Amino acid sequence: MTAFLFVTDLDNTLVGDDTALKELNQKLSQHRQDHGTKIVYATGRSLFLYRQLTTEKPLLTPDALVTAVGTEIYFNPSEDNFSPEWAQVLSEKWNREQVVACAANYSDLVPQPHSEQRPFKVSYYLTPQAATEVLPQLESALQAKDLNFKLVYSGDKDLDILPIKGDKGLAVQFLRQKWGVDAKQTVVCGDSGNDIALFSVGEERGIIVGNARPELRQWYQANQTDYRYLAQAQCSGGIIEGLNHFGFLKN
Ligand code: GLC
Ligand code: MG
Repeated sequence: MTAFLFVTDLDNTLVGDDTALKELNQKLSQHRQDHGTKIVYATGRSLFLYRQLTTEKPLLTPDALVTAVGTEIYFNPSEDNFSPEWAQVLSEKWNREQVVACAANYSDLVPQPHSEQRPFKVSYYLTPQAATEVLPQLESALQAKDLNFKLVYSGDKDLDILPIKGDKGLAVQFLRQKWGVDAKQTVVCGDSGNDIALFSVGEERGIIVGNARPELRQWYQANQTDYRYLAQAQCSGGIIEGLNHFGFLKN
């Protein structure tokens, strides 16, 4: 068996079924030890909220940690500094202050907690009812100011405004290139809107867990190929099912 690059979202993907998580942890850490497989977490959480999760759930130490919806990459999650190389890519023409000023015109956008406001991520809560009207308006307003941005709406509640080159998929592509791993030897797992970028960047093997949100299911229905797998089982159980489907865990 050869090494592969394992990339997973955390909330409601890796985390959500404690029994299956333990089983998956065991399989992955064995594979890492025997074959040099790399483990990457790609989460919407800030480093602060990631550390909080590590006190609640038994998470393996990843080989790299992607936080804040792909806008920060940590090679050592116990240190506070994220990859300056990746930050350099994102900072091109990114003007955080102007993005915040423009978004302030929409009262339906409720700012998320301070810990989730990051150098390359501006985050709000937004109801699905308001989203239908506000998202197109906000998009035109940001475009009219010629700002560099990307809107990511997840779970019918979270709106992230990111630099155009910042998302989970592009962060993983950066890691793949750095480590020289082929897309075919990479597997990405997710459950919601901010994971669509993981599945759509290239020909990575994709596992959509059985409990995936409607926005990701809809995307999957419209973009089915043999390298994307919709699991029956939920969370880590769905990941194990998908890894078996693609033959990554054979002994
Ligand atoms: C996580 C982050 C939040 C973000 C959401 C969706 O919950 O903490 O800031 O909006 O993921 O990407
Ligand atoms: Mg999730």
